[in-house]
Order: sequence, then structure tokens, then C-alpha cells
Amino acid sequence: MSRYPVFKGLLLLLLLSIFPPAHGQPKKTDYFPAKNLMEIGVYYYPEHWPREQWERDLKNISKLGFSFTHFGEFAWALMEPEEGKYDFAWLDEALAIAAKNNVRVIMCTPTPTPPLWLTQKHPEILMVDENGRQIQHGSRSHASWSSAVYRQYVEKIVNKLAQKYGNDLRVWGWQLDNEPSHYGAYDYSPAAQANFRKWLQTKYGTIDELNRIWGTVFWSQKYQTFDQIQIPNPKQFVQPANPHAMLDFKRFSADEVAAFLEVQRSILRKNISPKQWITTNFMASHAPVDPWRNANLDMITYTTYPVSGYESGVGKQGFRMGNPQTIGMANALFHPINGVSGVMELQVGQVNWGGLYNPQQLPGAVRMWLWHVFAGGHSLTCTYRYRQARFGGGEQYAIGVVGPDGVTPTRGGLEYQQVIGEMNKLKAQYDPKAQMPAQLAARKTAFLWSPDNEWEIQFQPQTQQWDTRGHIAKYFNAATSFGAPVSYINEQTDFSQYPVLVAPAYELLDQKLVEKWKAYAEGGGHLVLTCRTGQKDRNGHLWEAKWVGVLQELIGAEILYFDLMPPDNPGTIKVGDQTYSWNNWGDIIEAKNGTTVLAAYADQYYAGKAAAITRKLGKGTVTYIGIDTDDGKLEKELLRGVFGRAGIAVEDYPAGVVTGWRDGFSVALNYSSDMQEIKLPDNAQVLIGEKTLPPAGVVIWKMPK
Ligand code: GAL
Repeated sequence: MSRYPVFKGLLLLLLLSIFPPAHGQPKKTDYFPAKNLMEIGVYYYPEHWPREQWERDLKNISKLGFSFTHFGEFAWALMEPEEGKYDFAWLDEALAIAAKNNVRVIMCTPTPTPPLWLTQKHPEILMVDENGRQIQHGSRSHASWSSAVYRQYVEKIVNKLAQKYGNDLRVWGWQLDNEPSHYGAYDYSPAAQANFRKWLQTKYGTIDELNRIWGTVFWSQKYQTFDQIQIPNPKQFVQPANPHAMLDFKRFSADEVAAFLEVQRSILRKNISPKQWITTNFMASHAPVDPWRNANLDMITYTTYPVSGYESGVGKQGFRMGNPQTIGMANALFHPINGVSGVMELQVGQVNWGGLYNPQQLPGAVRMWLWHVFAGGHSLTCTYRYRQARFGGGEQYAIGVVGPDGVTPTRGGLEYQQVIGEMNKLKAQYDPKAQMPAQLAARKTAFLWSPDNEWEIQFQPQTQQWDTRGHIAKYFNAATSFGAPVSYINEQTDFSQYPVLVAPAYELLDQKLVEKWKAYAEGGGHLVLTCRTGQKDRNGHLWEAKWVGVLQELIGAEILYFDLMPPDNPGTIKVGDQTYSWNNWGDIIEAKNGTTVLAAYADQYYAGKAAAITRKLGKGTVTYIGIDTDDGKLEKELLRGVFGRAGIAVEDYPAGVVTGWRDGFSVALNYSSDMQEIKLPDNAQVLIGEKTLPPAGVVIWKMPK
């Protein structure tokens, strides 16, 4: 009991009046009530169209059923036509028309397109690419995230927008920048050079420590001061760069983009209403970005174009539907980051960029993608864009919701309209008390993810046959075919929520993670480690131990060495009486007592040695799969065995069938080119579609209360 309760209360009041609490962060349910399921919207660029068409367009957007639109991410030159002179009249007008038509607005910060007056006055804000070329003005994403000058201008325009629209509740939420990624390019500008040196100094403290961790004694790379360090640019070496410098540069670049976004987020958060949320639209696949670094955004969204001319999909018509893992893996990665997520750009028709070819999507595919996104638990989906652009931007072939006449809906546009209608039907069936069926919960599978591993392997892949994301996809697709709900998680997550945990090619780790894995398995979890895991410590150094010595005790085996085979002369592996061929990667393993061999090499001079093993540990199991094959069939069977031995019942869906569950609704989709019959529970109440699915078909059902 306090002796001075009244005094303490007064003191608290006084402190609160001096330091008022920051805007309280609303919970997910405040921004996106679960009963609304998934809101659907569309990008509109008022600045691209004659003023007299805005009224018609926004009215039609509303008539099609879209509940929100998206303004301004490339409009800096219109918002601030001259330095310090702002023009928001056009935006005010567009906002008013949107509101009149009950269309809410996502307002964007226009930072991917700094205006010409800015890049001419300060050319030093432009990024420099790996060839040493300063990027020209005239496209987008050309400014350096590291430039202090650019950041000052960014802060000004973001502040201005926050003051202007931060308490205008016609603005629903905010998007920072657009696809922050530099589209995979790295920045070698002087600003990036300077910040990299500072970053290294903060990380290592002394140059001696940097020399030690970077192993600069190798090839006389030793530095005396941080000022001597150059960003390692593989284009400027005749032989490989220092791997530790490369990894640090990737980590640094991810920190730079995260900090660039955080500057904007914190300005907005200080100035806008707590009722408005903040997000950015990450790309699902572009280095150097790591969305976990911005987990404090109110919502995490991503962009996706499942058919862009590179995908073969499943079966003859697969190229018109895309690969099921495109949306599947992105859902699994982005939704769990903070549990509030969306898709900010989901394709509506052919894209503009040069794939190998840019086919029409199969009728129904856009609708299927929307339901796939829905199954990922997202609160909103938006599509790029309402009207096909008539000019500019190299995007004339990006199909919109309506065609170049501005009024005729495209096939994809009509599929959006259809899903909006179907979503309204589902909303009427929403049950706040619905729980994930026990059978599904029992299969929950987590994939442990850290971009460090991918970055490290990218630089020393060891074989051109290796593809980290492709490796993960084999396990992801296997889990999908088992009907398992999959989440990507990071090391901070409580692993015990997931009966199965897969750490694919988790190359960099420390003893602490090994201990956490051990505790997870002892507590009843089923841990699956795959080849390349644990080869190095966090600095990218090999262990001063036997090969992957750090894992020996946990996996109950010794990894003797690894082999790689020519694709036209693959090796053979036996599992029971089945044989599989492999070539990408093979760990040659010797099991210790108590460890079971699951798969063994059937040829080569090490025939008889193990390729995959498993052991019991406490209440759970540890499985090590040391092999990477081209078709992933072996990996799938080995993963099935993990579930089987754990007593977890799984499905056996054919390739292309995707299932999911959210908010009481079960979803099944067919990305394959054949008819598929989905076995529904006897008392399932079918709400949309039917159980016989044509290619791109969808069925949604719920269970009676
Ligand atoms: C997206 C981008 C949009 C637009 C679109 C074209 O990746 O964010 O701004 O360029 O592609 O299809």
C-alpha cells in the first residue's frame, strides 16, 4: 500500500499534463472490424484524367462496389509544384468527390517520385547503381534512402500532408512510398557510402573488430580506418568480394529502407488521428527489403501479380493462373508479421512489364486470387488500377478495372465486382465466435524465416542449381497439399504454438537458437531442419568444429560432407522400396545410435550413407533432411512422414488445390488445369461455388454452429 496515494495521484496528473500520452494505438479490430471480413478497393489517379471525369469515375467505382480508393503515391510534383509552394486544391476536390460517393481514401506519401525541381537542385539525392551510373530523373524510385538532403524534403512533404489530411477522416489510412525496394537495385551513392561506414562503426566499434569479423587478413584486405571502407560492389571485382562485407551491406541496405519508412511513419503517427492507420506496400520478393524491420506499421501490405509471364503453374492452363505459392507464400510471410495485413495491389488483368509473354488470365483466375488473398486473413485488398493509362509511365499495357474509354469494365474488373457481391453474402454469415477446426489447428506449420540466410546463400550459392526460395517452396507446397495452415515466423516467436516447425536452409545461427529448437522439440514440437542449416555462425564464419558440428547433438548425427551432382547425371536415393533422383544438394550423413535413417544414398561411392534422418527428443521429434531435389517429391514424402509419426492427420490434395480457413469460412481453390472434386464434411454448408471445381474454381463453406 502506498503511504501517499493522493500525492502520487496528483503527481501523475501533473506528469500527464506535461507529457501527454502519445496517441494510443488502436487495435486491429478498431481499424478493421472482423465482421467486415475483407474490404475491396481500387487505385485511382485523378491527376491523370480531365477534372470533369472525376465525378463519373468515382461514382462508377462506388457502383462497382469498391469501398475505398488510393491516391497520390506519385503526385509530389503536383502537391508541391515549386519548392515550398503547395497545391492541394485538386486533391481536396478529388477527396470530396470520393467521400460523396462513400469511397474512403488511402492517402499516400509521394516519396518514390521527387519532383524535377528537387533533383535538379540536389542531384546528390539520386541513387547510384552498381555500374556507377547516377540514376536519371524521369521514372520513379530514383532517390537514395540514405540521402540526408532527400530525407529533409521527405520530412517536409510528409509533415505537410499529415497536417492537411491527418485529421480528415475521409482519409481512411496512409501508405508510405510505393513498393519500397528500388526494384532489387542497390544504392552505391556517396550518401550510402557514408552511412554504411557509420553503420559499420556502430556495429563493430573498432576497426580491429571489423577486420576480425570480416576476416580481412584474407587477400590483404585489412583496413586501418572506417573511412577507407567502400561498399563491396561485385561488378568492380575480378574475383569474389568479401562475403562478410557483402552480408553486412545487405543488412545495412535493409536497415536504410526500414529507417526511411520509419521516419515517415513516426511523422505521421505524431500528427494524424489515431483513427487513421499507416502501412506501406512491400513487394513480396525484392531484396534488400525485410518487412519484419517495419513490424510497427499498423498494417503490413504487399503487392502481387500472379500472372506476369514467367509462371508455368500447374498443368496446361497453369500459365493463365500462376503458381499457387505466389499468393500462398506471400500470405504466409506478411500476415503473421503483426497480424494485421492486406494486399495493396492484386492484379486485375495483363501487366505491362516484359515477362517472357504476358498471357490473358484464365476466366475466373482473378476471382480465385481474391479468395486466395481472403483465405490469408487480410483485412483489405486493392487493385492496380481503375483506368488503363492512356499515356506516360511505360504502363499503357497495364490493364485496369475499366478499359481506355474509362467506362467499360474489363473481364478482371467484372470479377472484382462479382467477388464484392459474394463477400457481402459472406458478411451476412459471419460468426464472431467461430474457431479454427481442431483438425486444422493440429496441423499448424511454421516456417522459420530470416533474410540473413537468403542473403548469405545468394553470395556463395556453391552451385548454380541452388534457389533458396525454390527450396522453401518445395516444403511450402508439400504443407499446402497436406491442408496445413502455414505461417512464416521469426526467431522471437513462441515456437510452441506450432506443432510442426520447418527451418529451411537456415544457414546462420547461434547456440541460443539451437537451444530454443531443442526446448521446442523436448516440449512436444516436431522440428524439421533442411540442408545448409547451421553451417555458419551469425557472422557467416564456419564453426571451428566438425562440419556443422553445432547441430550434431540436436540431430543425433554427423554431417560428414556434402555433394552436388550434374543435372544430367543425378544421384539416386532410396526410401523403403521407392527411389528418387537428386542433384542440387546432398548432405552425406552418419546417424548415431537412436537416430533413424529415413532415406539413404543408393549409388555413388558413399552408397548406404543417410540423406535424411529423424530422432525422438523429449516429447517431440527432430528431423534433418539433407537433400534438395528438382521436383521436391522426396522432400514431400519425408515431410509427410514427420506428420505421420507425430500422429497428425493430413490431407493429400493434388497439386494446385489450395485450401484455407478464416473467420469461420473454409475456402478451396483450384489452380490446376483439371477438374477437382473437394471432399467436404458431410454437414458443410456451401455458401459460394460447389465442391466440383473447374480450373480457377472456388468453393467456400462453413460448418453449422
Ligand atoms: C506495381 C507498381 C504500380 C504499377 C504496377 C504496374 O508493381 O506498384 O505502381 O507500376 O506495378 O503493373
